[in-house]
Parts: sequence; structure tokens; C-alpha cells
Amino acid sequence: MSEFEPILLANVNAENSHTRSVYESTGGYAALRQVLGQMSKTDLIELVKASGLRGRGGAGFPTGLKWTFLPKDHPGPIYFCLNADESEPGTFNNRILMEEDPHQVIEGLILSCFATNTTTAYFYMRYEYPLAWERVQAAVDECYAAGYLGKNILGSGYDLDIFLHRGAAAYICGEETGLIESLEGKRAWPRIKPPFPAVEGVFHKPTVVNNVETVACVRHIAERGAEWFRSMGVPPDPENPRDPGSFGPKLYCLSGHVEKPGCYEAPLGITVNELIERFGGGVWKGRKAKAAIPGGISMGLLTADEFDCPLDFAGPGRYKCLGLGTAAVVVMDETVSMVDFLLNSSQFFAHESCGQCTPCREGTSWALKMMQRIKAGRGRLIDLDLLLEIGDNIGIIPGTTICGLADGAAWPLKNGIRKFRDEFEDYIRRTNPEGYAETDPVPALEVIGAH
Ligand SMILES: Cc1cc2nc3c(=O)[nH]c(=O)nc-3n(C[C@H](O)[C@H](O)[C@H](O)COP(=O)(O)O)c2cc1C
Ligand code: SF4
Repeated sequence: MSEFEPILLANVNAENSHTRSVYESTGGYAALRQVLGQMSKTDLIELVKASGLRGRGGAGFPTGLKWTFLPKDHPGPIYFCLNADESEPGTFNNRILMEEDPHQVIEGLILSCFATNTTTAYFYMRYEYPLAWERVQAAVDECYAAGYLGKNILGSGYDLDIFLHRGAAAYICGEETGLIESLEGKRAWPRIKPPFPAVEGVFHKPTVVNNVETVACVRHIAERGAEWFRSMGVPPDPENPRDPGSFGPKLYCLSGHVEKPGCYEAPLGITVNELIERFGGGVWKGRKAKAAIPGGISMGLLTADEFDCPLDFAGPGRYKCLGLGTAAVVVMDETVSMVDFLLNSSQFFAHESCGQCTPCREGTSWALKMMQRIKAGRGRLIDLDLLLEIGDNIGIIPGTTICGLADGAAWPLKNGIRKFRDEFEDYIRRTNPEGYAETDPVPALEVIGAH
């Protein structure tokens, strides 16, 4: 990776970086003035499309294209939901942006709302982020006082209100239609799609849902242009006509068994090895790595031999993972038991499944019960195939569930067992020497241990 000047994290270490005066002293709100004075909404959408910006919330959907799905000349309100739920394990880049540079996020949000013709935005924030809440609310208040929010922003005739909404403290609140339900005051049960939010979202009105980091990128694209944004990252893969490329800077959350965990910024496409060695100071305690999750736990698992995987939108897929996800890399050293890893991830997904879809509700809880049984020394080799059967059959990709939580539950199972099968088999044989080869159905899947 050549020299790179941080963009999204440029100001986070400045004293009082969360205040409007510090933000403005480094050029903050110049992009807003420029756009409101000179650009049409359509031009801004075209600019974001041309930049190749893809959503940073997990799915990597092209942002400008998503905005064009809104109905044209809609007579009623269009709503904007800023997804700040940040519930994917290992992910904390939105928190850093909101706590340390909230005005960057708000400027990006105002620009995104202007482009999409939105006059009301909801800032849906993870329940467990009290400091981010305080700082974003203070920043919003400062914006009203400065004329950046409210009626007739900077004399442009454009009106926008931003309301903060506290999340309901569940993983599923981050799924865009779960978020919308929760915002409407209901339990966060994802909706069947279509209709997609762009057609029918909050209060049955057209709605845009974007991630915090996505709108922060919009602020910089508006200021420096599409070509500048495309000068960073990875061009489309010529072998894959469906890959639009991965452009721009990315915040990578690095945690687990590294010397220097943290949130680091690099152009899209840095490899796992580079991230660990260059930013993370290497695997901790002089140990070797065994595995890493590439982008939040729902993306699956890479073995240490696969750490040359580039962390762009297409990279992890080439290593049989689900995708880049949130680009949150959690490193596991050689002492970590993959049985413990899979037990832990199964616990998480069984707990967080909202329960609407039978394959997800039952599949995640069967997986948990089997993992508890394996861990307790009552596993059978055939259980590994049963776990894979669950993994291969739950989720949107096999077409059996409403939302992607089930896919997220499936990938650690599929990658964990396929990539580390020897370790699972060895554990089962060692801990259950009498019964490991049995194939008869287990009478009842007992719950072992607390859940
Ligand atoms: C179970 C689940 C949890 C999710 N959690 C989040 C989240 O916490 N934050 C987020 O931005 N997107 C999350 N997403 C993705 C959102 O549904 C949506 O794609 C995203 O907010 C769109 O924003 P973007 O286009 O800017 O990435 C989640 C998806 C699923 C299936
Ligand atoms: S896949 Fe799981 S979390 Fe998503 S709607 Fe269905 S039951 Fe709920």
C-alpha cells in the first residue's frame, strides 16, 4: 500500500474535534455551502453514482443507484434513516465517527438528504452509545444555531430536520426494515421485501437507509469529486461483470489477538496481512494467527493461510466467505479453539434471531444445541454434517428467510466446519471416545449450559 493520508479520520485526534468550531476550522461545511449554492439534487446523485461509492453498512450496494430507486416527483414526504445501529460484532467505526467527528457525519447526512429530496431524517443510534448520542445531539443543536439545519438552510430554500432515535438494543435493529419497524415504535421484525424501503419504508413512505460511514464519504465526494474518490481502491474485476469495483477510503476495525487493536483507515483493498502487520503491530505475544473473521462475524472465517485476502467488496467472496461486510477484522491466535469460536457465534445468532422465520429460529437454536453438546463431550461426527446442512439451508441466499441474519448465522458454520474440519473431528473423537461414531438420532436435543 502506498502512502495514504487519512480522510475520514483526518480530524479525530484534534482537541475538541467534535465541536463545530474545530470542524469548520478544517474546512467543514464548505461542501454544503458549495452544493446548496451551485448544484441540483440530480447533479449530486449523478456525482455520487459516478464516484462508485458503495454502502459501508454491510451489503455494499451502490449508493447513488439506491437513491435513484426513489419515486420521481413523489408528492408526499420522503424519509431518510441514518443507520447508526452498528450491531455487527467487532464493528465500531460508526462510533468513532459519531463520537470524534459528528459534524462530518451530519454534513454528509444533510448532503445525502438534499440529493434524495428528504426534509426529515432519523438518526437511529445504537442504544449502547451514550457518548455518541450526547455528541451527535450537541452537534445537531449547533447546526440549527448556525443555519445548517431547519428552515431555508443557508438561504437555499431547502428545509431539513434531524431527529435522534435511540435503538432498541438488538442486532436485528440494524437490518434496514427491522430498523424501520423499530422507529415506528414496534418490535424490530424485518419486513418481507419487496416492497423495498425506497418504495415503501417509514410510515409507508419512500425511505432511504444508509450507514454513517456511507454519508461521511458523501461529504468528501461533494467536496473533491468523483475522480478523486475513484483514485483510491480497486477497479472492477474484468472476470466478473457484476463487480462494479470498490472505491474510496474504508475504516477497518481491527480487534482480537493483535498488539494494537483499533480503527484504521486505508483505501479499499488492503489485505488482512497488511492490516495486521502494518496497523495492528502483528499477532500479539509473538504467537501465530490461526483464523480471522473478515468483516464482522456474519461474513464467515478466513484461515491464516488466506490472509492475503484483499479487503474490498469482492475479495472475501473469492476466499469462500460471504463478503466484506463491515470490514471488521477479528484475529484469533493459534491457541483459540474453533469449537469455542463456533459455540460463541452460535450463541450470538440463536439469541439475536427475531424468530419470524422457522428456518432461522429453529436452525440457529439447533446449531446452538449441537454445539453445546459437542463442547460438552457428547458430539458425534455426523453432527458436523448436520450443522453444515443447517448452514447450507438457512438464509436469503438459499431463499428460505426474510432477512440476512440467517445467512450471517450460516457462514461461520459453513466456513468453520469446512475449513477446520480436522480440528472438530479430533475434538469429538477425543472428548466422546465411546459415542463419536454413532449415527442414530439423538432422542432430544438437550440444552446444555446457559443460553
Ligand atoms: C442482521 C442485519 C444487521 C444489520 N446491521 C446493520 C447495522 O448495524 N448498521 C448498518 O448500517 N447496516 C446494517 N445492516 C445492513 C442494512 O440492512 C442496510 O443494508 C444498510 O444500513 C444500508 O446502508 P448502506 O447502503 O449505506 O450500507 C444489517 C443487515 C442485517 C441483515
Ligand atoms: S431471518 Fe431470522 S432474524 Fe431475519 S426475519 Fe427471519 S427469523 Fe427474523
